[in-house]
Amino acid sequence: MIVEQLSLVDFRNYAAAELALAPGANVFVGRNGQGKTNLAEAIGYFATLGSHRVSQDAPMVRDGADAAFVRARLAHGERRVQLEAQLNRSGSNKARVNGSPVRTAELPRYAQVVLFAPEDLQIVRGDPSARRRFADQLLIQRAPRLAGVLADYDRVLKQRNALLKSARARGVRGEGLSTLEVWDDKLVALGTDVIRARLRLAAELAGPVARAYTAIAGADHRPQLQWALSVGGADPEEDDSPAEAPVADAAAIEQLFRSALAERRSAELDRGITLVGPHRDDLVLRIRDLPVKGYASHGESWSVALSLRLASAELLRAESTLGDPIVILDDVFAELDADRRARLAGIVADYEQVIVTAAVAEDVPLELRARTVRVEAGTLHEESDAPV
Ligand SMILES: Nc1ncnc2c1ncn2[C@@H]1O[C@H](COP(=O)(O)OP(=O)(O)OP(=O)(O)O)[C@@H](O)[C@H]1O
Ligand SMILES: [Mg+2]
Repeated sequence: MIVEQLSLVDFRNYAAAELALAPGANVFVGRNGQGKTNLAEAIGYFATLGSHRVSQDAPMVRDGADAAFVRARLAHGERRVQLEAQLNRSGSNKARVNGSPVRTAELPRYAQVVLFAPEDLQIVRGDPSARRRFADQLLIQRAPRLAGVLADYDRVLKQRNALLKSARARGVRGEGLSTLEVWDDKLVALGTDVIRARLRLAAELAGPVARAYTAIAGADHRPQLQWALSVGGADPEEDDSPAEAPVADAAAIEQLFRSALAERRSAELDRGITLVGPHRDDLVLRIRDLPVKGYASHGESWSVALSLRLASAELLRAESTLGDPIVILDDVFAELDADRRARLAGIVADYEQVIVTAAVAEDVPLELRARTVRVEAGTLHEESDAPV
């Protein structure tokens, strides 16, 4: 799919902007702080219902305005769909598809976007939560049904935590909390669904990540992805020594889950939080058999993060009925040496649409510079002189 038309009102530093985009590469060039990443963020919003930079939506509403509007016309073959998101500073957001109101959660069914940005270095270097978020966002893009499962799991987790906290306050110990069992059942059922989906995802990403890494780095450093599961005895939230992830079916995971809960029961009551479940797991990334986090060089870390996104694009492309995902590369080329730039350009060039931002046009390989738009303080200007 491609974005044919993007329109922004009161989004970040854009009071009002209209932009036609072409199939193939579209390059946005401008000095720092002019609004390039804001464009990438606006398009990405439809796929993830959030920003890749902030966890709240309020910063995306232009200073002084009450609501931001992002509209995009997406095209896939002969089909057109008009998406609209209204981000409200207070109150819930609103969405429309072809002019009709829909639940905001419906938007990602129409928009598939893979955005790579400098913030993605956090996926490989940051806390386990960054890797869980990466995996869960991709799961939702591939199977929107999972958004409901993940949300239900979070709700059950909060309720179970509230119960543990109040039990702790009352000094309840050991087996003295029978109401916990109802919540255990829900936690295990939903959590097992999440764990299985994540294990499958890691297995399916392995090949595409290895190919993307070799293609970018020009060398095979044997990238690996493996979940460290808290139901399997690991506690990646608190130490760095992950246990081996068991390859297991639903019944086996449920059983592990239940015995891990039984084992941690008194620790949970002591601390008033749930210590076992997919909210405590980590997707451990390795190259050359060493963890990326803490060992890999800056350039290697970049290559792994980029490979995760390129592999995501490959998975989405392979199974989507909507064509290719829109690939967005925000500020990527400046970070790469000439060889890696050329290789990356070669990889993304055959996607239906690629959106590239750069402070310096010359950092972007020529083959991607068919169309350049200059971004200046929230205004957009088509570049008249074609690149030489
Ligand atoms: N809610 C907002 N209201 C008004 N302006 C905003 C808002 N949020 C961000 N901005 C402005 O948008 C600009 C940043 O835009 P953006 O991140 O897109 O820059 P950029 O062109 O990608 O720059 P760089 O090359 O440094 O990455 C900043 O000047 C910032 O002050
Ligand atoms: Mg930027």
